[in-house]
Amino acid sequence: MRIGVPREIKNHEHRVAMIPAGVSSLVPDGHQVLIQASAGVDSGFPDNDYIAAGACMVKSAKDAWACDLVVKVKEPLASEYIFLRPNLALVTFLHLAAVPKLADVLLEKKVCAIGYETVQLDDGSLPILSRMSQVAGRVAAQLSVRFLQKENGTPFSGKGILAGGVAGSTAARVLILGGGNVGLNAAESLAGLGANVVVLEASQSRVHSLQASLHENISMEHFSFESLHRLLPDCDILIGAALIPGQHTPELLKRDDVREMQAGSVFIDVSIDQGGISETSRPTTYETPVYVEEGVIHCCLPNLPGSVPLTSTMVLTDASLPYIQLIANHGIDGAARLNVAISRGINIRDGKVLHQGVAESLRMRYK
Ligand SMILES: NC(=O)c1ccc[n+]([C@@H]2O[C@H](COP(=O)([O-])OP(=O)(O)OC[C@H]3O[C@@H](n4cnc5c(N)ncnc54)[C@H](O)[C@@H]3O)[C@@H](O)[C@H]2O)c1
Repeated sequence: MRIGVPREIKNHEHRVAMIPAGVSSLVPDGHQVLIQASAGVDSGFPDNDYIAAGACMVKSAKDAWACDLVVKVKEPLASEYIFLRPNLALVTFLHLAAVPKLADVLLEKKVCAIGYETVQLDDGSLPILSRMSQVAGRVAAQLSVRFLQKENGTPFSGKGILAGGVAGSTAARVLILGGGNVGLNAAESLAGLGANVVVLEASQSRVHSLQASLHENISMEHFSFESLHRLLPDCDILIGAALIPGQHTPELLKRDDVREMQAGSVFIDVSIDQGGISETSRPTTYETPVYVEEGVIHCCLPNLPGSVPLTSTMVLTDASLPYIQLIANHGIDGAARLNVAISRGINIRDGKVLHQGVAESLRMRYK
């Protein structure tokens, strides 16, 4: 099979979908891997490493896209729609619930589109998304403590609280909505700094199974709107980390709720890639990562792991390569038969939506 790896073009997206070790595991099986020149440089992999691993370097995105299987990190942007065509198999983060226009194009062009975020094991876990979420949760924690600082000369100033505090001061109070991979990694990082963290999680069984093993600065409660309104006015940092796989993020906050928070508080909506948890959330970019609504600093970056590409690329490719190998060796149908996680990952194929959660979010017919 010819496998193409284009350079990522999303704003400040520095990851690449395949590392040289991935190339050297595919080439012996007779596959040809075409890497767009300099695609791996920001992740620490110069072109020569790919050449040594057996890849063909191609200059243009057009050449990298002209393959049977294209492997990417982020969803195709509008300027890449021109490369979409029937019989193309595309494997990448899609988050279609948040980009209905892309869903329309994938349907119209009859692309077979597999979303990393919906590749799902029998126990319900998401083996590729979860690895990126661990990174995203930790990046969100790092950004939140920075934005909470009052820094002269920056357009947006936080409350001016040291997250962990010191003797004689109070540590920051953190509220996290969703106690999965993002939520718990953010919680661990912030608790490790000394902040006081409360996680509100929808799954009762998850609350029970995790409560005892958490850091002493973290408490986990079952999510309810009563708890949310009790905790919101006093939290210095709010992190959105809820997910229902494939679906638009549950909208947990209205504008009036955000008004309950104190001015200079920080809200990092990690769930923005699936639409965001608040009426006030809208995607931001690394050029302008934050905006202020109702006095609260909002940061809604849809590609948090992209800012730590040396870490994220290793983690992403480690999680995704076994699935890419299966698809390369057996084709989509064969791979989906052999591995049900892959069949669950297929969002769109032959002009039909094949993922129930995605179909419901897009209000489209589910096949
Ligand atoms: N912005 C980024 O760069 C980035 C990177 C990685 C992941 N994400 C996103 O972060 C979100 C969380 O991902 P994850 O891997 O942690 O998911 P996860 O499935 O591990 O955890 C989500 C948790 O949310 C809980 N939940 C669902 N509805 C809830 C509600 N109403 N209230 C409270 N909890 C609720 C679920 O029970 C689950 O435990 C997803 O939208 C994911 O796409 C964003």
